[in-house]
Amino acid sequence: MTASEVVTVLRRATSDDVPMLLALWEVAAENDSRPTDTAEKIEALLGRDPDACTVAERDGRLVGSLIAGWDGWRAHLYRLAVHPDVRRQGVGRLLLADAEERFRALGAGRIDAMVLEGNDLGQSLWRSAGYTPQPQWRRWVKSLG
Ligand SMILES: CC(C)(COP(=O)(O)OP(=O)(O)OC[C@H]1O[C@@H](n2cnc3c(N)ncnc32)[C@H](O)[C@@H]1OP(=O)(O)O)[C@@H](O)C(=O)NCCC(=O)NCCS
Repeated sequence: MTASEVVTVLRRATSDDVPMLLALWEVAAENDSRPTDTAEKIEALLGRDPDACTVAERDGRLVGSLIAGWDGWRAHLYRLAVHPDVRRQGVGRLLLADAEERFRALGAGRIDAMVLEGNDLGQSLWRSAGYTPQPQWRRWVKSLG
């Protein structure tokens, strides 16, 4: 079977996926300048919105993820990650298309994503999917400890 014939299945993440998500993010996600992921944080997300996190599977193996967070006001994308073994085969594009469909159905008008300045790989995907940077804005944060 060639790479293009491999079936990618998208589904909503459940509690059972938490260990695999953490393992995926260790090897595949953008991990600089951000808080550490924990099982508790993922469980809290799924408890608040069971549809927020989508995973991509190939032959039963979890190879991609995307959190599409909708708080009723804004639509944010987080933790877009595709395992290095299966990159450049359309998995990221599939995950984004699915999230955009979800946001449209929820009534969102615009989607945003935090992208590190030095993340050329991530930026190439966002650009190809129609996202553009907003240089006039800068994120301000305060840690709650
Ligand atoms: C960014 C990432 C999610 C892309 O996932 P992917 O499944 O490989 O992406 P796709 O195969 O769907 O690529 C879609 C498009 O993105 C662009 N793209 C993806 N990888 C690229 C690369 N290495 N070089 C140039 N363009 C690339 C291309 O335009 C591509 O379309 P094409 O293959 O038809 O030319 C993946 O590389 C990744 O997990 N990177 C590390 C984590 C990360 O940076 N996430 C984003 C955080 S902001």
